[in-house]
Amino acid sequence: MEELYFSWKDQIMDIVRRWGEVGVPGKYHVIGVLGMGGSGVVGDYLAMLSSLRGGLPVIVSKSHLLPRTISSDDLVFAISYSGNTLETRLAVDKALRIGARIVVVSSDGLLEKLAVEKNIPFVGVVKGVAPRTALPSMLFAILSVLDASGLGVVSRGEAEGVAGFLDDVMRDAMNTAYDIADFIESSRGLLIIAGHSPWEALLIRGKNEFNENSKIPVKVDVAPEWMHNDIVGYEKPYRFPACVLAVKDPGDDAGSRLVDFMIDTYKGLGYPVKVLELRGASDLEKLMYGSLVMGLASVRLARMRGLDPLATESIHRYKSMVNEIFGV
Ligand code: F6R
Repeated sequence: MEELYFSWKDQIMDIVRRWGEVGVPGKYHVIGVLGMGGSGVVGDYLAMLSSLRGGLPVIVSKSHLLPRTISSDDLVFAISYSGNTLETRLAVDKALRIGARIVVVSSDGLLEKLAVEKNIPFVGVVKGVAPRTALPSMLFAILSVLDASGLGVVSRGEAEGVAGFLDDVMRDAMNTAYDIADFIESSRGLLIIAGHSPWEALLIRGKNEFNENSKIPVKVDVAPEWMHNDIVGYEKPYRFPACVLAVKDPGDDAGSRLVDFMIDTYKGLGYPVKVLELRGASDLEKLMYGSLVMGLASVRLARMRGLDPLATESIHRYKSMVNEIFGV
């Protein structure tokens, strides 16, 4: 599975070569992103980039429902790696019904079929991998469509630069990842991923990676909101073993100081702490670096625990019952 992360640069370059092939120019109020799990989190990444770079507001919906804030004047990305996820398909049906402008991003499946049947713009992503490892392919696919639609927050040139950056940092990312995996395996407690705004999306992605690859539950703590509620919960916690992966953007002094403040609290409770500093010259490079390190660390941890990182048995169990649950 490691090789799927090592090839992230190739995923980006594949999209760069097809950059701008699909565009949906228009005047939209918001961008909606409908998707679940490893696909839905791509919407969180887009929301972060758009918010930092002054793009359109992004509404991410990881649900079978369609937020009423999305209307026929809006652009909606239907993103599902397999193309078959029921919740995403149900939300897409609702978006079709209200007449929103839809773009399907997928590698296969029923959503691709729907796109062909209904003449909906479609961007195909890398085939035959685990959805979570297709993160760059799915993210840059959306960035490419936005750029071709005059709504770009990332240019083709920047995307190409990120591919080169990933190549440069791969060795460092792997060493850092192995250190983190050693740290978590030796601590054997609840993993807390702590960090600061605006990196919420990355912290959630890290959680998902350790859930799916390493098969452990994870708690996410985000400053400065943490200072307004979670912090009190650490005053008198029931005793439980825990360890903390503290994620810092070294280019953000206030953010780093916020995380240092959190670290004091964790250490006071006896939780071991490991710091991950985000490398990169831009928010996008830092996002990709952090994603790569946590992805590789979660795979490494699975291997150390004798588990198959690729297998997601319980998701399959849920998916085998999902039609019944939603009554379709
Ligand atoms: C990630 C993973 C899940 C799926 C989710 C939705 O590797 O397996 O989080 O991403 O179940 O499925 P797709 O992405 O096919 O819509």
